[in-house]
Amino acid sequence: MTDTGKSFDFIFPTEIRYGERIITELPKRIKADGISSVLVITDPGLKNQSFTGEILNSLKAGNIRYSVYDEVEANPKDFNVQSAAALINEQGAEALIALGGGSPIDCAKAVAIVAPQGGEVREYEDSSRIGEAVLPLYTVPTTAGTGSEVTFSAVITDSTARYKFTVKSPRVAPRAAFIDPLLTLSMPPALSAATGMDALTHAVEAFTARNANPLSDASALHAIGLINRSLTKAVTSPQDKESRGGMMLGSLLAGIAFSHSDVAAVHCLAEALGGMYDSPHGVCNAVALPVVMEYNLDYAVDRYARIAREMDIEFGDSREGARLAVERVKQLASDVGLPQFRELGVRESDFPELAEKSACNGSNKDNPRPMKKEDYLELLRILQGNTI
Ligand SMILES: [Fe+2]
Repeated sequence: MTDTGKSFDFIFPTEIRYGERIITELPKRIKADGISSVLVITDPGLKNQSFTGEILNSLKAGNIRYSVYDEVEANPKDFNVQSAAALINEQGAEALIALGGGSPIDCAKAVAIVAPQGGEVREYEDSSRIGEAVLPLYTVPTTAGTGSEVTFSAVITDSTARYKFTVKSPRVAPRAAFIDPLLTLSMPPALSAATGMDALTHAVEAFTARNANPLSDASALHAIGLINRSLTKAVTSPQDKESRGGMMLGSLLAGIAFSHSDVAAVHCLAEALGGMYDSPHGVCNAVALPVVMEYNLDYAVDRYARIAREMDIEFGDSREGARLAVERVKQLASDVGLPQFRELGVRESDFPELAEKSACNGSNKDNPRPMKKEDYLELLRILQGNTI
C-alpha cells in the first residue's frame, strides 16, 4: 500500500536529455549557459574511447576551451578530487563535464565544491559546510548503473582511513545530464553486469527504504521492470540497442528513486568493502543484494511482493511473492556471471571493522530491518558461506 498520508518533498533540479546521439547537443547547451571553458573529468579507461575524442572535438568546434583530468580511479579517491580542483584553480575553468561511470561523475561533483570553496573534500561530509558557490556540472554517463548523473550525492574514498564517505546536497545536483545509451555499447560484459546490478540495487533499496515516497516508488518500480527485462541481454548481446536503452533508462530511474528515498544495508556493506579493499562497487552490491533481501524479508514482505509483480512473477500470497522476488534477484546475479563473495578476498579478521563501518553509514537508518553492528557481522558470515 502507498502511504497517502505521508508528507514528502520531491525537488529535481537536473535537466535530463535522453536519446541516441544526444551528446552532439552538449556544446550548444553549455554555450547557452554563457560558459566558454570547461574541465572534462574522466578516467584512464575512457580517454582513448572514440566517443571521448568526438566529444572533445565537438567542444573545440563549439569554441569551448577545455582541459582534461583523466586520472580518476575506481572508488574515486580524495586525492583525485584535490588534484582536479587544483587544475581548475590553475586554469580557471568555469564548469565541469563528467564523462564516465560513477567514479568520474562522483569525483566531479566533489570537485565542483572544492575548487571554488577550498579545503579538503572530507570536510564536506558535513553538508552544512557546502556553500552556494558550486561550479556548474554537466554529466555524460557511459555505464548503465550509477544513476550519479542525476543524484545529489558523491561517494568519495578517504584514502588514509580507507573509508568511503558521502558528500550530499541538492547543490551538487548536475545542471544537465546528457544520457546516450549508445555510449554503453562498448562496455565489456563484466562491467555491464556489475553496473547493472548496482542499478537494480538502487531500485530495490529505494523501494524498500524507510524514507521512500510515492514518487520514488514509481521510479523504483519502473526501474526494476526495465532492468529485469534488459540486464541479461545487455550482458550477453552487448550491441543490442534495445536492452542497452532499457538499462540506461532503468539506471536513470533508479538514480531518481534513491536520490529521493535512500539506499540501505546493501550499500552500507558495499561501501565498507569498497573503502577497505577497493573492490568494484557493483560487484559488492551484486554479491550482497540477494543475501540482504533474504535477511530483510520479514520486514518487507508486501514491498517484495510488489517487486515480484513488477518482474512478472506469478505467486499466491505476498510471502510467496516476496520469496520468489529474492530468488529472481539471485538468479539474475548468477545469470550475468558475477563473482562470489569469497572471490573478493575479504579477510574474516576484518569482519568487525567492516560491520562497524556498515553500521555507521548514513543510509543504515533507512534499511527496512533495523540493523546494528551485530547484524552486519551475521550478514558477513552468511555471505562468506554463501554460494549463489
Ligand atoms: Fe550504488
